[in-house]
Amino acid sequence: MKNEHVCNICTADANELIHVDCASHIYPDGSLGIHGMCFRVLEKEIVALCGPNGSGKSTLIEHLNGLLRPTSGSITVMGKKLDLSHINIWRDVGVVFQRSDDQLFAPTVLDDVMFGPINMGITIEQDRMEAIRALKAVGAENLLDKMPSYLSGGQKRLVCIAGVLAMRPKVIAMDEPTSDLDPVHAEMVENIILNLKNNHGISIVIATHDLDMAARISDRVCIVKDGSIIAEGRPSSIFYDKNLIEKSGLRQPNVVQIYEGIKKNLGISMENYPITADELIKTIASMIR
Ligand SMILES: Nc1ncnc2c1ncn2[C@@H]1O[C@H](COP(=O)(O)OP(=O)(O)OP(=O)(O)O)[C@@H](O)[C@H]1O
Ligand SMILES: [Mg+2]
Repeated sequence: MKNEHVCNICTADANELIHVDCASHIYPDGSLGIHGMCFRVLEKEIVALCGPNGSGKSTLIEHLNGLLRPTSGSITVMGKKLDLSHINIWRDVGVVFQRSDDQLFAPTVLDDVMFGPINMGITIEQDRMEAIRALKAVGAENLLDKMPSYLSGGQKRLVCIAGVLAMRPKVIAMDEPTSDLDPVHAEMVENIILNLKNNHGISIVIATHDLDMAARISDRVCIVKDGSIIAEGRPSSIFYDKNLIEKSGLRQPNVVQIYEGIKKNLGISMENYPITADELIKTIASMIR
């Protein structure tokens, strides 16, 4: 396939933790997973990957910790190019899969969360402490004796996040972290993501169809289409670009749709770009004052 992608980010940035340099991935059956993919993760940021089904979000995420290797292009993590010698990549970049059952396998929650750190050459007691610390950080310390297969979907998601967090990675990539969760558990996961960034200094990559969540919590949004990133920027600039969002097969977040609808209805033009419900409420309040 002809690579029509024009790369504009392939120069390395000093604050980069991950740099994906024009990577393509062709699956064994010939399907194109990603193509001319350029992506970076900076220190202490939340980056949202938003794109329709089949656009390449999961394929990209699986490249970030070496689960998949690029067919062409390269991935650099913490300044080191990923190759077969970079076997400890999972210490730097943890991945939380969309299906928790792909990740959980041990007889108890505690065993599961202890599995990663024990391979890092620490004692059983230190390992246990790391696992409990991680379970506490996600509010799941009450689950440690339970069998993972008996947990609810929301509880499994928390345990998966703890399993990755226990290894103290620099970056955690989460594939659809709030899919299948009720609003309360989705909000819990959202708060955990913010807490990981703000209090643990971890950068988070989320692949999500929940554009409202992406608008609320991300520092940067990347729009993924046909295997590449076609636009990126702050949520307020990306999500107010109606043409971009629609041509990407997405729908603007509810807050944006409501605000644009109110402005149109009242015939008002304003230069505000509210992106969270709080910002929208303040903006509407200032309109009617
Ligand atoms: N194991 C595989 N073998 C062959 N093709 C694959 C495989 N995994 C993904 N693909 C293909 O790669 C492309 C990108 O898929 P990917 O799962 O990365 O998309 P996605 O953006 O995560 O989609 P979704 O939003 O549905 O999760 C799709 O065309 C898909 O059919
Ligand atoms: Mg996916």
